[in-house]
Amino acid sequence: MRAKIKSFLNKKNKKKLVCLTSYSKSISKILDKYCDLILVGDSLANVLYGMKTTHNLKLETMINHAKSVILGTRKSLVVVDMPKNSYRNPKQALKNAKQVLKETRCDAIKIENNLFNLNILKFLAKSKISVMGHIGYTPQFKKKFKVEGKNKNEQIKLLKFAKKIEEAGAFSIVLECISKETAQKITKSLKIPTIGIGSSKLCDGQILVTDDMLGISGFYPKFVKKYLNLEKIIDKSVKKFTKDVKSNRFPKNINSF
Ligand code: KIV
Repeated sequence: MRAKIKSFLNKKNKKKLVCLTSYSKSISKILDKYCDLILVGDSLANVLYGMKTTHNLKLETMINHAKSVILGTRKSLVVVDMPKNSYRNPKQALKNAKQVLKETRCDAIKIENNLFNLNILKFLAKSKISVMGHIGYTPQFKKKFKVEGKNKNEQIKLLKFAKKIEEAGAFSIVLECISKETAQKITKSLKIPTIGIGSSKLCDGQILVTDDMLGISGFYPKFVKKYLNLEKIIDKSVKKFTKDVKSNRFPKNINSF
C-alpha cells in the first residue's frame, strides 16, 4: 500500500480527515495546504459544465481536470471520480481506472456503489487499484434526492452494504446524505475511514464541493456551509474593471509597455 494512503488510513480515530473537491491547479494549490484528500469529483458536470446530471460526463474530461489538479498538489491524496458508464463491468473498469491513474498520476479512484457493482470494486482492489466507495445519495444511480438511513430497515441495509464495500477492498467510503445515527453506526463498525457529506459530524472526515462552500456554485442545500460569498466578490471586481475600462482609468502607464 502506498505511503500516502497508509497515512490517510492511520488518521482514523485520531484526527478528523479534511477533504474538498477541486477541478483545477489554482484551487488545488490552495487546498493542498489544508486537505488530507482532494477529490476530482464528477460534480464538475453540474458545477462547471452546467449539465443537469453527471451521467454524460466523459472519462477524458475527468482526466483533463485531474491533470490540472495534480499540477497544484504536493501532499494531499488525490482521488478521481470514475464517471458513470466507465465502470460497467470488471474488465472495462480496470482498463479505465488504469488509464486514469497512468495519465493523471493520481493516487486513487472513486466509484459510486450499488448492489450490482461490488464485484467490480473487488476486482479493482484485487488488481491493486486503490478505490474509494460512495453510498447513500449516489447521483450516478439515483434519480431523486433522499436522505437515507432514517428508519431501522434502511439503517440495517446501509450498514451491511458499507461492510460489504469494506470487505470488497475499498480504502475509504463517502457517506452522502445519510442520517446521523446511521452514519455513526457505519463509522463505528468500519475499519476504513468514512467521509461524510450531509451525513453529520459523526464521520471520520468531511467533504464539501469547494465551489458550494465558497459561494460560487449557486447550489446551497442544508448540508453546505457557505464560508464566503465569492460570487459577490467577483461581481464587485468585474464591476470595478468595467468602470475603469469605460472611464479610461485602466490600463495606466504602469500596466503598459
Ligand atoms: O462529485 C463529487 O463532488 C462528489 C462529492 C460530493 C463527494 O462525489
